[in-house]
Amino acid sequence: MSTSGKVIKCKAAVSWGLNQPYSIEDIEVAPPKAYEVRIKILATGICRTDNNGTTGVMPAKFPVIGGHEAVGIVESIGEGITTVKPGDKVIPLAVPQCGICSACISPKSNYCEKTDITGRGVLSDGTSRFTCKGKPVYHFMNTSTFTEYTVVEESSVVKIDAAAPPEKVCLMGCAFSAGYGAAINTGKVTPGSTCAVFGLGGVGLSVIIGCKSAGASRIIGVDINPRKFERAKAAGATECINPKDYTKPISEVLKEMTDNSVEFTFEAVGHHDTMVDALASCHMNYGISVVVGDPPASKMLTYDPMLVFTGRTWKGCIFGGWKTRNDLPKLVSDYMAKKFDLDPLITHVLPFNKVKDGFDLLNKGESIRTVLTF
Ligand code: APR
Ligand code: ZN
Ligand code: ZN
Repeated sequence: MSTSGKVIKCKAAVSWGLNQPYSIEDIEVAPPKAYEVRIKILATGICRTDNNGTTGVMPAKFPVIGGHEAVGIVESIGEGITTVKPGDKVIPLAVPQCGICSACISPKSNYCEKTDITGRGVLSDGTSRFTCKGKPVYHFMNTSTFTEYTVVEESSVVKIDAAAPPEKVCLMGCAFSAGYGAAINTGKVTPGSTCAVFGLGGVGLSVIIGCKSAGASRIIGVDINPRKFERAKAAGATECINPKDYTKPISEVLKEMTDNSVEFTFEAVGHHDTMVDALASCHMNYGISVVVGDPPASKMLTYDPMLVFTGRTWKGCIFGGWKTRNDLPKLVSDYMAKKFDLDPLITHVLPFNKVKDGFDLLNKGESIRTVLTF
């Protein structure tokens, strides 16, 4: 029986307020309005940002359905939708591509004005499509994928190859694209170069994959959790170091290890101190440092401007610089053509109802990516 045009009752992981873990609830998902798409989620990764959304590091409107790294199948479409149809395999887009804002019309940018990193929590008409126990429940980062069904705007969804495996390419909805693009598009890593990557979670490992495919000859992984080293090496790190093993600042350690030749550094932790460490660790003159981790909301950072005065370049990127609707289908095709492997990133696959276990693994430092399947 078709569900099109009807409210769907299903399960979703809801956080009811600041520091409240996600709990599985029965929710109602309204049909898509004009220019909206309702999606049945097949697989979703757990990203640090989903945790940041409940702890206040990233703004969110509560109660909220988290999740933003997924693959699904279009269940139904609202009026006016032309780019996807029911049955299409799709990736929901935390960074939309509306096609008409200043960022979308410039070939130099991808940070669409519709992106919700400020915790608006609603679709363009100012309302949510979710309810639970009679109350509205809000969207997260234009996507909300910790649910059997979600509703997104057309600008926040793209069709991908129907043959792509959901439990792998869901990572293209965030970690992989953000990290890989940071190396390829933002840092523009060059062949033969030396790179250092701070933070060896799903995002950092994706930076490593990007550095490797750009032809870097030395890729040094930096993490305070040595349990991350094995997977980082599987992704392409040539060596890994733990700042806790040294008394000197890590920038000095890297300088000595490389004869002062680290050209590219990447911060994939999301902490101010590692952002400055990564900046200080690239070559004082020609070095390029890229901020990939989400900075903590509303917190200021002090640093010695001498670090940039001498010539270093400090850059950031949202979602690896990709124009999501144009570029994600091509990245999926590259994966299908075996240009890179996502397996080093995936440490756990759990059924959706084990979402809480997935967050425990993340917070204990035991996982890289946990993928939840439906
Ligand atoms: N120095 C080096 N590594 C650190 C430090 C530090 N001081 N503190 C934490 N780390 C490591 C953790 O041990 C972990 O392996 O950083 C890694 C971060 O990985 P995850 O928590 O799995 O985060 P991930 O999902 O990869 O996201 C990284 O990008 O999307 C953003 O919000 C996300 O800011 C976060 C960042
Ligand atoms: Zn736009
Ligand atoms: Zn993410």
